[in-house]
Amino acid sequence: MSKNIRDPKMERINSKELADVFIADQIDKIRAQVKDGRVLLGLSGGVDSSVCAALLIKAIGHKLICVHVDHGLLRKNESEEVLSVFKNEMKANLIYVDAADKFLDALKGVSDPEEKRKIIGHLFIEVFKKEAKKLNGVAFLAQGTIYPDIIESDTVKAHHNVGGLPAQLGFELVEPIKSLYKDEVRQVGEALGLSHGMVYRQPFPGPGLAMRCIGAITKDRLKAVKESDAILREEFALAGLDQKVWQFFTVVPPVRSTGIKKGKRAFEWPVVIRAVNSVDALTATIEEIPYALLGKIRDRILDEVEGVNRVLYDITNKPCATIEWEYRGSYEK
Ligand code: XMP
Repeated sequence: MSKNIRDPKMERINSKELADVFIADQIDKIRAQVKDGRVLLGLSGGVDSSVCAALLIKAIGHKLICVHVDHGLLRKNESEEVLSVFKNEMKANLIYVDAADKFLDALKGVSDPEEKRKIIGHLFIEVFKKEAKKLNGVAFLAQGTIYPDIIESDTVKAHHNVGGLPAQLGFELVEPIKSLYKDEVRQVGEALGLSHGMVYRQPFPGPGLAMRCIGAITKDRLKAVKESDAILREEFALAGLDQKVWQFFTVVPPVRSTGIKKGKRAFEWPVVIRAVNSVDALTATIEEIPYALLGKIRDRILDEVEGVNRVLYDITNKPCATIEWEYRGSYEK
């Protein structure tokens, strides 16, 4: 793919007015490209796929078919939010696929992070392809590719994107936001009526919570990751930190330690809190969470999350720690 798809004369989209001009222009271009054809889009609920979906809904309405694959590794209530915004509010033509058991089965006993990523990536394509084959008259596949995905060959998305899928399905690609930088995608998203919270979401890895349920995933430990993450997000939102801190989540390693709960010995997992600030994910510094807030989060996690008897705060910057606890790619041996 050519890396020069952004016209050097293109003005940076930094206002509602410029976003509206971009949207009107793209609507014309989408309609000219797809004519009466139907378009398929994998809607994860991330910023890019959401903005891409909103733009296509505006351009071609029900001729866009969104497929949301719930692999069971999304954050608590995330799929429900995607359905509520796109199906209920925006009246999108949306197919919800509950594939959680399928993914958990395939991941059973797999502890190598790269193997976990591969299984999730391949299964995602398989599930998506199966849905695509059930549909008639689809000739196009829309993707929320953005400009940094094209110019930086080693972007985060390149690691899990469904490369080669359009060709496998015989579909033509539709990439309406591929000339935009991330801040412009957000500007366009807000101009399309998506909520501030949705377009300013923190980065979330494609393999989702699988990267935070360290080692071989089990249902109960994954639940501990989901529940503790939900508490952290709720408390950060209450404290006004959710729009300030770049990325925050919890990790549950497969380690048990001794504790005492309700007067009895309890041999349970720790929950690790990670909250970092970064510009480009290449380096990161930890957020200095106030002690009182840490205490409140600790108490809620210990009260509300089953199987947990310790809460730790990861105070390591990147480098030398990566942001996620599980590595990507392979180590030099
Ligand atoms: P690390 O852990 O390498 O993470 O410091 C840097 C950024 O990348 C995200 N990340 C991923 N995103 N698929 C993704 O889409 C992945 O496999 C993946 N691994 C890490 C991470 O959340 C952080 O923002």
